Amino acid sequence: MTQNLLSVQGVSKSFPGVKALDDVSFEVRPGTVHALCGENGAGKSTLMKIINGIYQPDAGTIRVNGEAVRIRNPIEARAQGIAMISQELNYVPDMTIAESFFLGRLPMRFGKIDWRHIRREARRILKEEGWISPSTGGWGR
Ligand SMILES: Nc1ncnc2c1ncn2[C@@H]1O[C@H](COP(=O)(O)OP(=O)(O)OP(=O)(O)O)[C@@H](O)[C@H]1O
Ligand SMILES: [Mg+2]
Repeated sequence: MTQNLLSVQGVSKSFPGVKALDDVSFEVRPGTVHALCGENGAGKSTLMKIINGIYQPDAGTIRVNGEAVRIRNPIEARAQGIAMISQELNYVPDMTIAESFFLGRLPMRFGKIDWRHIRREARRILKEEGWISPSTGGWGR
């Protein structure tokens, strides 16, 4: 039997006046895609936020590759291979596009932020997606 990548067992979470999650369990096997469906207020976002360490569960266990883990924040989630892309996207007005691509995961080289890598990668992604011209490097669309 293939081991689950992620296993959520008996997770509960209450907010003042509402029990958002009541003994929720689900499992994710390697190479599978899941859609979590439910009406407004069903607790979908709360569950995702727990898996991403934004909220702590009141009860229950999360296992990654069979090992019980405590995910205290999104950086720890990332270290476990878990990332969340939010429905409502915000951007940081003072940041460049390149900086925004690496928000929360700035690459380091010899103890310093690797700006060359950041700019090179940003240019590569923007070209790949057709935002800048592959030949001139100028804006495409
Ligand atoms: N930070 C919070 N403080 C208080 N109550 C909250 C908080 N976050 C969620 N809730 C409540 O928990 C319940 C589940 O909310 P949640 O946002 O997880 O639902 P959802 O399934 O993502 O809904 P939607 O489809 O509207 O995004 C709701 O009753 C909601 O009002
Ligand atoms: Mg939601």
